[in-house]
Amino acid sequence: MRILVLPALLLALAACGPSQPDSSAPPAPVAPEVSNEEMQARIAALPAPYNEASYEGGRRVFAQCRSCHTIDAGGGNRVGPNLHGVFGREIGTAEGFTYSQAVQDANFVWDADHLDHWLANPQTFLPGNRMAFAGVRDETQRRDVIAYLMAETAPQ
Ligand code: HEC
Repeated sequence: MRILVLPALLLALAACGPSQPDSSAPPAPVAPEVSNEEMQARIAALPAPYNEASYEGGRRVFAQCRSCHTIDAGGGNRVGPNLHGVFGREIGTAEGFTYSQAVQDANFVWDADHLDHWLANPQTFLPGNRMAFAGVRDETQRRDVIAYLMAETAPQ
């Protein structure tokens, strides 16, 4: 697969010229083969309180993250690291991403609780990190986006 993708990417880059390298990257669809109903069903199977989250609501909140993060498998890093498989992953270990010293020095595995605190206020949760994002102050929105991430990145 990778062997086929790379030449296609290079061709796309060559075709579009150097002026717009980002828009020539292949689009990163979000689980196109899985319906919203299936996603909502995955959410219903999550532990409380995430089982009560709204998939649609989470997708809307994630729009704020999308400019910096991809979530599909092999989606690549943007301003921020790829978030596929972030649950259960040691902080600061997405392949090929250069993290701030603050993140490199941190030492925990991402779970819903850590993500909830990180998203509530990234700067107070881990001072000195480089995620230029004010955070998601609304508790329901955090619940929804965390459940959305869990559903989107669940093993097939
Ligand atoms: C302006 C760009 C930007 C936005 C918007 C943004 N992030 Fe980030 N994010 C980053 C950067 C940069 C890092 C790496 C921080 C560092 O190294 O200090 C990061 C790190 C993370 C990490 C840690 C990943 C790891 O591998 O340990 C998580 C989780 C995360 N972001 C989730 C989110 C979510 C969810 C949202 C939306 C609610 C969001 N981010 C919005 C740029 C962004």
